[in-house]
Amino acid sequence: MILVTGGAGYIGSHTVIDLANNGYDVLILDNLDNASPRAVESIRKVTNKDIPFVQIDLCDAQALQNVFKEYKIDGIIHFAAHKSVNESVLLPLKYFKNNLIGLINLLEMVEKYQVKNFIFSSSCSVYGNTSELPVTEDTALSPPECPYARTKIMGEEILRDISLNADTHFIALRYFNPAGAHPSGLLGESALNTATNLVPVICETGAGLRESMTVFGTDYPTRDGSCIRDFIHVMDLAHAHTLALRYASNHQQDNFSIFNLGIGAGVTVLEAIHAFEHTSGQKLNYILGPRRDGDVVEIYADYTKAKQLLGWTPQHDIQSIMDTAWRWQLNKLY
Ligand SMILES: NC(=O)c1ccc[n+]([C@@H]2O[C@H](COP(=O)([O-])OP(=O)(O)OC[C@H]3O[C@@H](n4cnc5c(N)ncnc54)[C@H](O)[C@@H]3O)[C@@H](O)[C@H]2O)c1
Repeated sequence: MILVTGGAGYIGSHTVIDLANNGYDVLILDNLDNASPRAVESIRKVTNKDIPFVQIDLCDAQALQNVFKEYKIDGIIHFAAHKSVNESVLLPLKYFKNNLIGLINLLEMVEKYQVKNFIFSSSCSVYGNTSELPVTEDTALSPPECPYARTKIMGEEILRDISLNADTHFIALRYFNPAGAHPSGLLGESALNTATNLVPVICETGAGLRESMTVFGTDYPTRDGSCIRDFIHVMDLAHAHTLALRYASNHQQDNFSIFNLGIGAGVTVLEAIHAFEHTSGQKLNYILGPRRDGDVVEIYADYTKAKQLLGWTPQHDIQSIMDTAWRWQLNKLY
């Protein structure tokens, strides 16, 4: 059975579906800090499977141990973490505590129960404000721009150290900018905490839930002055986890692998807004504002390694991201 921590969250829920559709038995673990129980219902509806769910906090070591006593876990995909760049600047301790203690508790279970495969949600934020583009897995890491990014660097370092003396294959997947939603319209990015990622902010503004939105920085050295990001459709990202799990099982002799997951095409914030306007047929109410602390100027991936070793090729572009994100947003309103 594959344990998916944070499996009721945005990327986790889509990944659970992809795993289930590819024949894996899955156990969802989530404390519902940033997810709704309705996500679990939607996962069951979409997969037509009664996928088990345990509501516990990874920082509760005893509760976690009980899960491992009850279920035979063969692999783990670890999504559960706090993820807001801005909040991490304001509340760094909250981030270090949740993201690192949760990880360490889980790794103790990996050791104790001899779990063979472990996939970790890392982030392109580990590259910091790099000038080397596109970013490969060998690009040197620049100093992190925020405590959130530091938790991801520390997470990877912990895995690398542990992997030297373990029979587990650890894989860190460095996501670029996940966005979009399930084509059914039943699942998408639905944070209980205020959305900060660009695509949900755009959709909420388009739906009138926000009066307007701000484009942070219009004087960056990019083609239209706004930041450049590599938006990757959550369905493509979810499938990469299934492929990574398969790769980990087939390369059990390896200790630690890292893969970039982005589509390699940078899109500016203003281009993303225009893609939304095309999808929705309406003008978005946005304000051009100053730069924001913690933002990197431009980043996009070279995903050759994931293509060659995992056999992963992304299928979706920014328009498909906006189409599905907007469908999800409209569904959420009714
Ligand atoms: N979404 C992005 O833009 C992005 C980019 C790069 C990396 N990541 C990483 O991917 C992972 C998943 O991100 P997401 O966008 O799906 O976030 P999310 O907030 O939607 O999902 C994370 C889930 O983990 C749960 N969780 C958090 N702390 C927990 C704990 N201590 N115990 C149990 N459950 C806990 C939350 O309730 C939530 O459902 C995170 O590790 C995040 O840092 C996300």
